[in-house]
Amino acid sequence: MSSVTDTLAIDGGSRAVTTPRPPYRRFDAAEREALLQVLESENLFRYLREDESQVRVFEQLFARKMGVPYALAVSSGTTALTCGLIGLGIGPGDEVIVPGYTYIASAAAIINARAVPVIAEVDDTLTLDPADVQRKITPWTRAIMPVHMRGTPAQMEELLALAEQHNLLVIEDTAQACGGSYRGRRLGTLGHVGCFSLQHFKIITTGEGGAVVTTNLQVFGRAVMYHDSGRPFWEGYEGEVIPGVGYRMSELAGAMGRAQIGKLDDILARQRAAKARLVAQIRDVPGLQLQRIPDEAGDCGISLAIFLPDAATAHRFAAALRAEGCGAGTMYDSEIPDRHIYYNWDHILAKKGYTPHGCPWTCEHYRGNVQYSKDMCPQTLGYLGRAVAIGLPDGLTEQECDERALAIRKVAQAYLG
Ligand SMILES: Cc1ncc(COP(=O)(O)O)c(C=O)c1O
Repeated sequence: MSSVTDTLAIDGGSRAVTTPRPPYRRFDAAEREALLQVLESENLFRYLREDESQVRVFEQLFARKMGVPYALAVSSGTTALTCGLIGLGIGPGDEVIVPGYTYIASAAAIINARAVPVIAEVDDTLTLDPADVQRKITPWTRAIMPVHMRGTPAQMEELLALAEQHNLLVIEDTAQACGGSYRGRRLGTLGHVGCFSLQHFKIITTGEGGAVVTTNLQVFGRAVMYHDSGRPFWEGYEGEVIPGVGYRMSELAGAMGRAQIGKLDDILARQRAAKARLVAQIRDVPGLQLQRIPDEAGDCGISLAIFLPDAATAHRFAAALRAEGCGAGTMYDSEIPDRHIYYNWDHILAKKGYTPHGCPWTCEHYRGNVQYSKDMCPQTLGYLGRAVAIGLPDGLTEQECDERALAIRKVAQAYLG
């Protein structure tokens, strides 16, 4: 094994990471059998035979896993957010505070619900900065949308306290943190509604898919109604009737979800153990600032971010890590149109709605005057600009963790020592 003082691979030395890893397989007999069962049933529609529905079984398992009474499976994380917002009754005239570092879908869902996104800073947790949320609250604020980005729990204690103080709703975007927790409670269940993505790259997946969870029957009923315009016509529907759309989950996705939810705790245990092993070896490296994690035990362990002294060092650091064989990348570069950073949400910053009328910003119900600009969240761009993200794929062996830790220490020794 090479050592910390060896020549960097980028300068012609040998690589710290010696084993090219084969792709980790996420699917096995559990998914195959669940999917075959659906095909053999000759039914892909969840409401055809409700008592046999795979989607329904998945919802029950998901609700149980999250420890809530109600879960609704939908077609994506974006539609889960939209159903959550509509479920809460958020709409025209309302402002919703969202972090400037999140997938653009978080803001798009707010606009889709005809409400106005207000973009706030993230801090050294790379999640919503409660101090900036406080500054951004106006008489029109209706809700806060914490996003548990890259599996990191947001600062829920502070955000929930703010929400209570200002009588605001909390909708948790848990798209990237399924199964994570904050002080012992599953992410997505601390606010009024939690929304999950089950898209291919998420912790568990149905291909495309999403889920909404809540403890409030009325919110659930509205989300159920909104996700299927035909709902009042199906036998036994007793919820509130509002106009709905078509965000149903298919039986194939439901079967995938059923198989995948059974793997969630094992996936999280593996990811957390790998991250803990790696972090223990780099925590005290001089000059390296690790992302602050609001609840380490609840972190999903799917990502590791470190802050370097400045953007130029971050770029050099990431390039040197890649040369060592350790997957790594910088998190913000104004030349790269990464849609996870508000800076690149040009059409939203330009207040472009669905028609030239400019709603929701020009809607007669909206009395606020939110302003956007590319430089409106300098703290967010500052943290992301000097951050390096290190990939933690599922299934890392102890040796693979140790080699990645060595790569980080080696590069830190050369560039920061
Ligand atoms: C933070 C966040 N919110 C929302 C979404 C939207 O989920 P989907 O792609 O399933 O619509 C994503 C997906 O990438 C996400 O990462």
